[in-house]
This record gives sequence, structure tokens and C-alpha cells, in this order.
Amino acid sequence: MGASISNDEIAALVQPNRVHKRVYTDPALFDLEMERIWGNAWIFIGHESQVKSPGDFFTTTIGKQPVIVTRHSDNQVYVLYNRCAHKGAQLIVAPCGHAQQLRCAYHGYVFDTAGALVHVPKGEGYQNSAFSRDNPSTDIRRVARVETYRGFIFANQALHGPDLASWLGPAITSFDNAVDRSPTGEIEMTGGVLRYMHDANWKILLENVSDNMHPAVTHQSAWQPAKQAAREFPDDQKPLPLAMLEPFGSSYEFFDTIAMTTCGNGHTWSGGNATIHIGYPRESKYVRDMEAVHGEEKTNRILSMQRQNTIIYPSIAFKSALQTIRVYRPIAVDKTIQETWTFKLGGVADDMLHTSVLYNQLIFSPYSIAGHDDYEAYHRIQHGLQTEASEWVSQHRHYGRDQHNDDGTTQAPGTSDIVFRHEFEAWKNYMTSSNVEAS
Ligand code: FES
Ligand SMILES: [Fe+2]
Repeated sequence: MGASISNDEIAALVQPNRVHKRVYTDPALFDLEMERIWGNAWIFIGHESQVKSPGDFFTTTIGKQPVIVTRHSDNQVYVLYNRCAHKGAQLIVAPCGHAQQLRCAYHGYVFDTAGALVHVPKGEGYQNSAFSRDNPSTDIRRVARVETYRGFIFANQALHGPDLASWLGPAITSFDNAVDRSPTGEIEMTGGVLRYMHDANWKILLENVSDNMHPAVTHQSAWQPAKQAAREFPDDQKPLPLAMLEPFGSSYEFFDTIAMTTCGNGHTWSGGNATIHIGYPRESKYVRDMEAVHGEEKTNRILSMQRQNTIIYPSIAFKSALQTIRVYRPIAVDKTIQETWTFKLGGVADDMLHTSVLYNQLIFSPYSIAGHDDYEAYHRIQHGLQTEASEWVSQHRHYGRDQHNDDGTTQAPGTSDIVFRHEFEAWKNYMTSSNVEAS
């Protein structure tokens, strides 16, 4: 196992402008990542709207750990390891559902939705044994910490460390912007989820989100026909799918205007003023409803914040303005599931949700006309890194030219490798820190 890799050896894999290929290919390092990164960072779990009422539950993972997320009768959200406290059977296999109690399918132990054991068949058989209802090991084990921010649920397997808000730092404003876009201040995860298994390391998928040097090349077969077809329409009558695909073929100069901002712990956002999500129609009623709640100036401020992607390292990339969240679920060193979720803004007509769902289908889904371009790129990277040609992966672009801001954030043009360097700075910190807890 990875425990035999020393911290010095790990630290040497990350250099200021390049990383060693082992970070993407070594199964022992992957095991260590699950323990030291996914076992110590706040990991995105879902949204409170997925467990609206007591008894609602869904299942997901934290790194490779299967968990159950419940809303209990005390109205709190609990995150439980998906393992029966008796002999270890997985308790819930359904992706989501509703239950007053959780009954194990093997010997019928019954637990409440906060994980406490409530019934054991033929309980008298345990008399004079060490088994006792007062012993917490007879309950389902809870994940050490759970916190929500404006409805977004995160869990942390480590008992100690920064609280969620401090850990998110300035990136928290992207969640604010996502929720503030609803006139009622509510959002709801809906519209289904797309799951797509990729034959590549989770970090390759995450890096692609901030790789503005790739869309014009990798997605040429998607944007070029779209551009051609779009010529048939006046700008204000362009069909939405064409408006979504065309900007992938924008110039490098345009992509540079989608500035990258890094803000600690591996978190980043791209854009602010510029984004490829331009030219989508917006209902004037929506703007009027927003102005009725927030006033004209604040509405303008909220709607003009155009962050193309915010990455909360290591588990999600989300588009506040387009109401979509991509969730990364590592399976093995060369296998990752990407989930894409959409959310609906409270008090807003369904048209905006339909725009998000359409974007997901066009760009991210397994049957999209862009998602499999990226799949091919990930696959080629994972395979290319198996060769003995070179041990190093370049992160040189715009190195040494970052702009350091007074608030601690750092900025660079959209085609810089700044985000990759920042993510690996966080990677190295988690992987070599003496403060990390074994999960
Ligand atoms: S393993 Fe669950 S009741 Fe025995
Ligand atoms: Fe792409």
C-alpha cells in the first residue's frame, strides 16, 4: 500500500511548473489520496432539497466510501457510512428513497434515520455478551462532520480541521451567487442526474474544467458545424443549441479574457465578466422579479457576475449562472465517474432549468456532441502517460506571471496553467501534511 511512500518522495513529484506522471498513474498514490485528501477535505455531498422531509434519503460516496444521507425526525441532515453495524452488509442500495427506519436486508437489524440501533431480532441472545445498545459501535457510524452552506451539503471524514466556511474562503461567493439568482433565495436539485464513467484519473477530469487551451481544438467537430449553421439566423433568433456550441470555437484572445482566480485549498473560479455562456435568452419577467426583491443595482450586480466554473477542490466544478454542478467520484487510479446535476431557481419559470438541462445533454452527457471529445482526451492522456517517453507533465504556461491580489487571491489570463499549479499545491499540502488524519 501507499504507506511506504515517504512525504519527501511525494513532495518531489510536484515541482513549481511540472508534475511527475506518477500522480496520475500510481495506484499506491491513489490509495493515499483517498485517505489524505478525500479523508480530510470537505467533500460535496448534495443539496438539502434532495432530503426535503424527515425520512428522505439518498446514497452517494466520499472518495471510495459509500454513504447514506438522511433527513432525520429532528430535521437534521445525517451522513452515515453505508455499512450495517452488525456484520457489515451494505444497508441501502437504492440511489434515493423515503423510509422511517433503515432495516438491514441480512439479519433484520433496524436503525433510525440518524443511525441509532432500534431493534435486534431475538435480542436476548446477546445477554451476558459485550454487545450493548449503549455501545456506539452498535449504531451505524456517522461521518465525522457535516455542514451545509446555503443548502449545499458537505461532509468531512476528519474530526478536526477548519469549518466549511473558512475552508471555502472567497470561493463561497460563488454559492451566494448561485442562490441569490433566485428571487425567493431558494434552489432545488432537479432535472435528473447524468453519470458518465471515464477511463482516467480524477485529476485529469478536474483539470479539463480550467483548460481553456483545449475547446477550440478538442471540440472542433462540435463548434464548427454549429458556427456554420448559426449563420442562417439573425443573432437574436439563433437556436439555443447553436448559441451554446458556437463559443467553444472562440479565439485564444477571448479565452484569455475568462480570467482565472485561485483562492486557497485548491479552489478556483474562472470568469467574472467574460464567459462562453453568452447570448442565452433571459426572460424580462425574471429580471423584473429579481428587481422587485433586490432592487435594480443589486440585481445587476448578481446577474453580471458571470463565473464560468467554480472548482471546490477536490470534488466539484459548478456553474452558478447556468445552474449546473459536476461532481467527481474517483473509483480507481484510472477510473472516475462524473455526475452532472442541474438545479432550479425558486420563483422562476422552468425555462431556465430547461436551458441547464439542455446544456448538460449537449455538452456533458454520454450521448452529447462534446462530452465524448473530452472522454477521448482523458483516455489518451491516461494512456500516453504509460509510455516511458517522459516522466513529467508540463504546467509551464504563464508561469511566473500571476497577479497577487490584496485579498489573498491570485489571477492570471484564461489560458494560463495557474489553476493546475494551484491544485497541485493543495494536493502536495494534503498529501504531505502531518496534520491530516487517517480516515
Ligand atoms: S449484517 Fe446487517 S443485520 Fe446482520
Ligand atoms: Fe472540453
